[in-house]
Amino acid sequence: MALHCGRACRQYLLHLAHDNVDFRLPEIKALLSLRDRPFDTSETFNEKSPFWQLNGLSEDDIRSVMSRTVCGKSAFELWGHGTTTDELRMSLLEYPAENMAPYLQKNSTYKINVYTFNKTLVFKDRIEKIDALDFLPFKGTVNLKDPEHIFCLLEDYGSDPYDIPEEPFHMYFGRWIADGQRELIRSYSVKKRHFIGNTSMDAGLSFFMANHAKVKADDLVYDPFVGTGSLLVACSRFGAYVCGTDIDYNTIHGVGKASRKNQKWRGPDENIRANLRQYGTESLYVDVMVSDASKTVWRKNAQFDAIVTDPPYGIRESTRRTGSHKDIIKPTEDLYCEEMVPLHPCLTLISNCEQTLSSHTSRRLITMEKTKEPEDSDGLAHLADPRFTLYQGHNSFREKYFCGLTKKNGKDSKASPGNKD
Ligand SMILES: C[S@@+](CC[C@H](N)C(=O)[O-])C[C@H]1O[C@@H](n2cnc3c(N)ncnc32)[C@H](O)[C@@H]1O
Repeated sequence: MALHCGRACRQYLLHLAHDNVDFRLPEIKALLSLRDRPFDTSETFNEKSPFWQLNGLSEDDIRSVMSRTVCGKSAFELWGHGTTTDELRMSLLEYPAENMAPYLQKNSTYKINVYTFNKTLVFKDRIEKIDALDFLPFKGTVNLKDPEHIFCLLEDYGSDPYDIPEEPFHMYFGRWIADGQRELIRSYSVKKRHFIGNTSMDAGLSFFMANHAKVKADDLVYDPFVGTGSLLVACSRFGAYVCGTDIDYNTIHGVGKASRKNQKWRGPDENIRANLRQYGTESLYVDVMVSDASKTVWRKNAQFDAIVTDPPYGIRESTRRTGSHKDIIKPTEDLYCEEMVPLHPCLTLISNCEQTLSSHTSRRLITMEKTKEPEDSDGLAHLADPRFTLYQGHNSFREKYFCGLTKKNGKDSKASPGNKD
């Protein structure tokens, strides 16, 4: 458990939010790879845990990850950890004094927080836990309001709310470095968005997608199923120039019926450009245009740094207003299996994350990286694996996976739940 190392090999602790658990590892890996840093963790690493120990990084690496992550709540320089208070104490006593010293100075101010996962402690217990750390050579003055240095004792009581142990399974102590960007989920909420549609992607997932795609400043990002541009909003937040296409004239031109419950028609400036203006990134708006993504419109050597998109699920969205529960949709009978993920000879699968929507439906965020330019021989790749079969036309995916649709008014009426297109 001891952290026998000096400045060069400090360990860091990430405290992660316990939702969208599947999306966290690809996000942190992607953000580290933006700095050419590896994801190196402890032998006991558990992807489902809210606490991850990271090795081989600098404090700048950690700050950079925290400046973008939507799954990371906070990051700490890990000073010690253990499965019992004795182990934690031993581990802390072995941590190099020279690493601690700059933060324990006489003329400094500090405070210690106690964070417990899956257990609520009363005030008295928290104070006792803080007092038990008095063997650490704190020389500064406690300042609860505006301290220079913040330390945290983090305790993990497992993830079963029906079986909470008396003592934590694991405890960590460290110096707080930075918080992540969870706040973006609130400040970019589609509830406060100028222009929305029935299928506007929520803010948290939009930022996850931009992070998985490693979108960065001055990139050119394209969304072929742009809708109301939620993904362009997220990508522009990270400094990318953004453009998109959609088959729906009304959405692209910001006209027609409104999606808000108490509004009949879209207002004069309800469009994607205005969404970017709302968040101060209008200068990164390239343009959007009406186009069918199944028809090639780009010149052959057009290049984007990333394509980030939320395509329709092969099912037409019925016109509904947000907040209306009129269309109760019958779930699809198709069961997911990995073989359904399409392949392309020029693309390498990086991650495939499941978001559970209900007891019987999920959607997946699939990230692929272009690893080579197309060659003539790629046309034969399907002989090796049928999943390489090239796009067969507008309805092929839909016919394969969504046959047996219920019909309503002569139109397909089935869509995924939760107003998802
Ligand atoms: C799930 S929605 C995308 C929502 C978008 N991410 C947003 O935040 O508003 C899918 C979009 O794909 C569009 N679409 C459907 N078929 C299309 C096609 N063949 N080509 C281009 N866009 C299409 C729909 O009009 C819809 O706006």
